[in-house]
Amino acid sequence: MDERIVTNHELAEDTFEGTIRPDSIDEYIGQSEVKDNLNVFIKAAKMRDEALDHVLLYGPPGLGKTTMAYIIANELGSNIKTTSGPAIEKSGDLAAVLSTLEPGDVLFIDEIHRIPRYIEEILYSAMEDFTLDIIVGSDSSSRNIRIDLPPFTLVGATTRAGDLTGPLRDRFGIISKLNYYTEEELTQIVLRTSRVLDCSIDEAAAVELARRSRGTPRIANRLFKRVRDYALVMGNGNIDLQITKLALDKLKVDAFGLDETDYNLLKSIIEKFNGGPVGIDSLASSIGEEVTTIEDVYEPYLLQNGFLKRTSRGRIVTEKAYEHLKINRQGNLF
Ligand SMILES: Nc1ncnc2c1ncn2[C@@H]1O[C@H](COP(=O)(O)OP(=O)(O)OP(=O)(O)O)[C@@H](O)[C@H]1O
Ligand SMILES: [Mg+2]
Repeated sequence: MDERIVTNHELAEDTFEGTIRPDSIDEYIGQSEVKDNLNVFIKAAKMRDEALDHVLLYGPPGLGKTTMAYIIANELGSNIKTTSGPAIEKSGDLAAVLSTLEPGDVLFIDEIHRIPRYIEEILYSAMEDFTLDIIVGSDSSSRNIRIDLPPFTLVGATTRAGDLTGPLRDRFGIISKLNYYTEEELTQIVLRTSRVLDCSIDEAAAVELARRSRGTPRIANRLFKRVRDYALVMGNGNIDLQITKLALDKLKVDAFGLDETDYNLLKSIIEKFNGGPVGIDSLASSIGEEVTTIEDVYEPYLLQNGFLKRTSRGRIVTEKAYEHLKINRQGNLF
């Protein structure tokens, strides 16, 4: 598993996430377009006394999909029932959770792209007509039964919207993409976390933390927690800029939020492939990684921040990366 301190995937040490989750739309920082839209739709649903349209939230890990699902339920004043794609193995698993729903409830399905295809079809009628069509009994005595469900709102979350089938996607009335956060937004998130955890931080330190958090609240909060330990042990508990820099340097998270894994990837391309272009397959075998790991875990942040470029002939290390790594381009044309 991916255990880097700058990973955007949830780690065992992130257990405190539940306690620092904002629980209202007003407290949710950033993603203003998504928030503005949802705000209107939620208000309208409440005014009409109807269930909110089904919502699909997609985007990279750690950007606040689960958080938003809970906020939607809160703002609607509804109960939330949660499950996930991998937890639904049999059609009965889905039927069981659907049959517990009460009018206006939110059903949150995390990693919805991982629901098996044949079970997905049960969702179609549940979402469209609020009916549950299931087969009971076995073989010769099996028959179809139809159960009416109360109107409910399905909130689905996925990091891979492209893996969703068309028919499932089409049944969501509201589709919202969460984007990476700006430095200013992450600064606000860090300041908010410091208030919730009752641990003071200087503004400059919050900015520094934000800058190194790869656009991701989960990483910002995780780094905050580590830096807080340094401040307690090596200082007076207040997080200042000096302690922040020292701690992050010790944790090997550089000024752009890059860690050793990023350096290794960029250096491999520079040293073994002259900076590229190199095909993803050759790159993967040269560093002993799976292609999908490179695509899903290693390169998104490097691509997003212009350290790496994807071209038709393969990956290329950019000028920005050479400068940042302080490596001279050998045999370069200009
Ligand atoms: N807009 C935000 N404002 C404040 N805190 C946020 C915001 N978005 C996320 N967070 C914090 O970041 C952490 C991770 O968010 P969350 O668990 O909702 O991410 P996710 O998108 O569901 O990730 P995954 O894809 O791994 O399920 C939470 O602890 C939450 O407190
Ligand atoms: Mg989540």
